[in-house]
Amino acid sequence: CRVQLWDSEEPVPRAELLSRVAGTRGLLCLLSDRIDREVLDAAGPDLKVISTMSVGFDHLALDEIKRRGIRVGYTPDVLTDATAELSVALLLSACRRLPEAVEQVKSGGWTTWKPLWMCGYGLSNSTVGIIGLGRIGQAIARRLKPFGVKKFLYTGSAPKPESAAEFEAEFVPLTRLAEESDFVLVTCALTPATQGMCNKDFFSRMKKTSVFVNTSRGAVVNQEDLYDALAQGQIAAAGLDVTTPEPLPTDHPLLSLKNCVILPHIGSATYATRNTMAVLAANNLLAGLRGEPMPHELKL
Ligand code: NDP
Ligand code: DGY
Repeated sequence: CRVQLWDSEEPVPRAELLSRVAGTRGLLCLLSDRIDREVLDAAGPDLKVISTMSVGFDHLALDEIKRRGIRVGYTPDVLTDATAELSVALLLSACRRLPEAVEQVKSGGWTTWKPLWMCGYGLSNSTVGIIGLGRIGQAIARRLKPFGVKKFLYTGSAPKPESAAEFEAEFVPLTRLAEESDFVLVTCALTPATQGMCNKDFFSRMKKTSVFVNTSRGAVVNQEDLYDALAQGQIAAAGLDVTTPEPLPTDHPLLSLKNCVILPHIGSATYATRNTMAVLAANNLLAGLRGEPMPHELKL
């Protein structure tokens, strides 16, 4: 292959992408590259395969891609463990107030051992609600079960008895999940149906002592509503690995809250996982260019 490489960790500027994609047969992209009609038009009719180095594909205009007969490769499974691990870390950081506590040690706020100082909420005997019991949702449940979780609830487009059996998880409507969970984890894909799903109504149903964690996509959450819920003590805490926009501006109101832990979209960020994702994305692309079955092709 002849390769045009954007040799930088920074995203390729849009104008650069539009000019360099012209006439290509394959495109390997990241989740930060919006592949829409404009890019597809700029690429022209030779474009046959798009390979994204991500499991999420909400940055791809799938209807338009399908209409043009372009194949799509993505990277499921290989990042499930890393993302589940990070989700658990984020949950524990938020519910046990780790960043706040670390800050107290550094700032001299730690004066002595005090009975109720820096208390949070633990997983023992809790109810955990998972929005989207897919690959990552199940991997999180598997990791949380040994913490002594009493009950798992989940929601999705339809019950998944086979996946849920391992955790004896109960399929419930979103409203019931909000009302009964001590911990809510969002692990669904971003789609028109899930966009803005965690909103004022959702947060108002959650318990004052409950903790909300999102490692899917920022747009599943209405961030103004989340801010209000956290600021008004409607929920106890939140942990976000994904936001809208990314990066979140450093003066964003959510960053002023002590009970909100925000990470810079590092769910899959282990060296081994990112290397495996890169190799898989390259192999998807090469298979697509050869007209062969891809290791992981998205069914359009
Ligand atoms: P899966 O496809 O295995 O799981 C997605 C789940 O979303 C499915 O179980 C699906 O349930 C559920 N879902 C779809 N529609 C709805 C809905 N309306 N309400 C509730 N749930 C719904 O994907 P993965 O587990 O591999 O990845 C999930 C997402 O996590 C990715 O799409 C990506 O956005 C994000 N991600 C983030 C990372 C990070 O770095 N923070 C790393 C990796 C992934 P059903 O089958 O019932 O429709
Ligand atoms: C994905 O793959 O969709 C994640 O957001 C990053 O690994």
